[in-house]
Amino acid sequence: MHRVIISGIGVEIPQASITNEELVESFNAWVDLENEERAARGEEPLQKSDSAFIVHASGIRNRHVFEREGILDPRRMTPRIPARADDELSAQAEFGVASARKALAQAGRAPADIDLVMCSSSHLQRPYPAIAIEMQQALGTEGAAFDMGLGCSSAVAALHVAVNLVRSGAQRRVLVTTPEIITGHLNFRDRQTHFIFGDASVSMVVEAAAEGEVRPGRFEVLDTRLWTQLSSNIRTNLGYLTRAAQDDPYRIDLEGNLIKQVGNKVFKEVTVAGHRFIVDFLAEHGQTPDDIRRFWLHQANARMNAMILKLSFGHEVGHDRAPMVLDRLGNTAGAGAVVALSENHADMKAGDYGLLCAFGAGYSIGGALLRMM
Ligand code: COA
Repeated sequence: MHRVIISGIGVEIPQASITNEELVESFNAWVDLENEERAARGEEPLQKSDSAFIVHASGIRNRHVFEREGILDPRRMTPRIPARADDELSAQAEFGVASARKALAQAGRAPADIDLVMCSSSHLQRPYPAIAIEMQQALGTEGAAFDMGLGCSSAVAALHVAVNLVRSGAQRRVLVTTPEIITGHLNFRDRQTHFIFGDASVSMVVEAAAEGEVRPGRFEVLDTRLWTQLSSNIRTNLGYLTRAAQDDPYRIDLEGNLIKQVGNKVFKEVTVAGHRFIVDFLAEHGQTPDDIRRFWLHQANARMNAMILKLSFGHEVGHDRAPMVLDRLGNTAGAGAVVALSENHADMKAGDYGLLCAFGAGYSIGGALLRMM
């Protein structure tokens, strides 16, 4: 069995961004248009969205997006990402490659040093050929590549697999990539969810360390853990059988098949499950939350993270203990916790412990116990 380290982390945040105010203005302009039609049909009007509510309920003030054009147009409310030819790099692979190159550079590794690419994301652009295989070709990595996904736990789920493949000696070095273009599947006309998500791409290089080898500033992965339990409270039904369920298979009911969630149920249920996961996982290693210098939690909701930490510690803890990036990035699905990790570890000392923990659709929760080398 090999010791396993994360030798490099890469983050790609798109330049384009959208504030709450911009998003709410466009949503409310659409509501005005829609309500005129509803009034003519004698239907109840839709309610408007509100920036102050968004900040209070979620902590989100801004999000970055892969493509801004189209999102704020009240007659479209979807990013305009043109289709590419089959011989061009697809949008998601391109986004993955951008963070992967940064992770490789930080690891000091060439693409040929990698023998497996895993693209693990809450959404995959298509079933095949795998996005990871496109990335393999674009980067020039060796061996194999495949896609997987587990909602917002996608990055930690892939880390769980990668760490165990490297630990067992089955792979030498694995590139785990989570390119999240979640705005492409978001219903910007749904008041409950239109403000939640943003786009980001993260990558990690996972490799073996020799006995006694120290790579200062890098993390050793002591253990990883996954938990799932079925819930439809965060769900999308869009898939390859969607058209087969329609009377007219060539006119798909897209709106009814986009992301939907029962936010307040998710909040309550995942807060409790997340707290239990953290406390139990740490207990298996003879640790309590007090032993952990830093928590890089899933970035969905500021109040939710505060509650999970309060339940786990027995008192409130600040952002130095559990950094927040969702205020400026929104919920970037699988990428969020890794962005928090990437931006908040340079001050940690050798021997400090950290816990990466993501949670979301499934329900799913994944964790990795790390120690600074
Ligand atoms: N603007 C203004 N008001 C809004 C609104 C909006 N955009 N969206 C909802 N509201 C209103 C509701 O209509 C409701 O009004 P009422 O009390 O008069 O009925 C009120 O706000 C509270 O709604 P609720 O859904 O209970 O809000 P909340 O406090 O639970 O916050 C979320 C909503 C989505 C921010 C929160 O539930 C959440 O973040 N949940 C977890 C999501 C999550 O982690 N998902 C995981 C994805 S990985």
